[in-house]
Amino acid sequence: MADLAAGGPQHVAIIMDGNGRWARARGRPRGFGHRAGGRAARAIIEHASDIGLPALTLYAFSSENWRRPASEVSLLMELLLGTLRKELNEFHRRGARLRFIGDRSRFSPDLREEMSRGEALTATNAGLCLNIALGYGAQQDLTRVMRELAAEVAAGRLRAEDINEARIAARLALGELPDVDLFVRTGGEVRLSNFLLWELAYTELYFSQTYWPDFGPADLDAAIDWYRGRERRFGMVEASACS
Ligand code: FPP
Repeated sequence: MADLAAGGPQHVAIIMDGNGRWARARGRPRGFGHRAGGRAARAIIEHASDIGLPALTLYAFSSENWRRPASEVSLLMELLLGTLRKELNEFHRRGARLRFIGDRSRFSPDLREEMSRGEALTATNAGLCLNIALGYGAQQDLTRVMRELAAEVAAGRLRAEDINEARIAARLALGELPDVDLFVRTGGEVRLSNFLLWELAYTELYFSQTYWPDFGPADLDAAIDWYRGRERRFGMVEASACS
């Protein structure tokens, strides 16, 4: 099991990709893959909580996923609602603090209600900060922040020269959370797909060939071990032995 005390990441963000291909490889419909993906997500959340990871952010539904066929979108909505209803008490029992990032305006009232209920129930918990990106897109999040700042400048409450990186970061959906240390994408694709573009500026990027439904706790541990071996320089030069 990963030992986070020894230089492990404080915040891991995951693109859970490959459900559809996992199902196709088994001659089954995509929904079969998404259901298996939901079980894999639960196992990773429980493992993250067990190893004491401070923060985990999962990309469950992007702003672009609305363009999928209506039948797949409704299956994903059903799965998300069902998973939340079923697992919320367990997340709470483990002390996880749940937060949803993204535009929830297009989700059904049932799902929105469950999201708010989950956030309210777990708001004061001190365990794993579990962020689930739903209807999320990093460009949309950044655009929202720019608009808010522009409106404040126009209203005379903020000077343009006082806009800086810290002010922008604080207003992003993940706001006050520590920066993402480790990004994981499963399923073999090597791209960011509009996920946390600002927050990943100095993040270590780990790409796994494994389809999400097969990505288990041991795979997360392997990613964390890989992370521990990275030398993070944040734009500086490598540490000199004689300095
Ligand atoms: C990408 O696979 C996966 C999704 C769009 C859905 C991810 C959602 C889950 C795994 C459910 C998670 C549930 C909770 C509560 C966190 P894909 O369909 O793009 O796969 P493909 O690239 O092989 O087609």
